[in-house]
Amino acid sequence: MEKEPVIIDCDPGSDDALAIILALHSGMVDLRAVCSVTGNGALDTTTRNGCNVLALCGRKDIPLYRGSGAALDQQVPDTVSAFGDDGLGGYADTIQSDKKEEEMDAVEFLVDYIDSHPGEITLFAIGPCTNVAKAIRRSKTFAGNLKRLIIMGGAKYTGNMSPVAEYNFWADPQAAHEVLRAGIRDVTMIGLDVTNRIALNCGMREVLRMIDTPLSNFVYNITREGLDDNWRTRKKAVSPMHDVLTVAYLLDPSILQVKPAYIDVVTEGIAKGQSVVDIDGHWNGGKCNAMYAAEVDVEKFYKLFFETIFHEDVTTLF
Ligand code: BDR
Ligand code: CA
Repeated sequence: MEKEPVIIDCDPGSDDALAIILALHSGMVDLRAVCSVTGNGALDTTTRNGCNVLALCGRKDIPLYRGSGAALDQQVPDTVSAFGDDGLGGYADTIQSDKKEEEMDAVEFLVDYIDSHPGEITLFAIGPCTNVAKAIRRSKTFAGNLKRLIIMGGAKYTGNMSPVAEYNFWADPQAAHEVLRAGIRDVTMIGLDVTNRIALNCGMREVLRMIDTPLSNFVYNITREGLDDNWRTRKKAVSPMHDVLTVAYLLDPSILQVKPAYIDVVTEGIAKGQSVVDIDGHWNGGKCNAMYAAEVDVEKFYKLFFETIFHEDVTTLF
């Protein structure tokens, strides 16, 4: 089977790191490049983490392009506490490497690459949408030349930065708003409604510890701070893995139930960053601009995640 050519635009970030790791272990993805954006850490941090995760996977050959350090409005968003100051739960230093980022900036790269590969590339946006929005602003043909865009962001029913706003959309709501309105032919928004449900539980983390390879120990370590944070703030003993679901969905689309929707993002005021998801045809003359992930097959997801990366069956832990 031909591998799917993809680019991952991300803010690593523990769960972004897991998304890259899953993609690279799947044998089904041809990862052409990674782009960084500020989010789970400052831009220097997410850029360095991205390089080091590629090196950890033995893929120093995959280029990493440094992207935006601030949102479209020039504000630098607060970073996420769930993964610690270094974005990887205090374990970023354990995977230092000599891999360097490319000289070209991520937005320039995205425009050049997508416009010279029309209709070929699936782009993952699993951090704030700033780089993608800038690429759309810079090139009239960029949006039309994307094959597909898979976003981790937003939600229909919940938020994690406010009662209604998810982090990636909250961090740059104008960017998310512009990306959703850009006319990209195939957009899927995978939000908290489903990603909250695929968090790692303590039993699964113990399995990682027992597998005891450099990779399983790394995943065990970088998911520790998320677990602690969830317990401190919500009394839930699970560690978030939001972004991984985007890659899992590419590998096995039956993991998610998606519905056509018209989605827009609130750019200011009390609901700033909220994604408003219309699945009933109230807006835009009933025309949809995206698919909305409504349900997830949690067991199928865990099975795919553990079997693909660690060749372990964890079915008994569900
Ligand atoms: C999103 O925000 C980030 O912290 C995660 O990496 C994920 O992309 C979840 O709200
Ligand atoms: Ca992310």
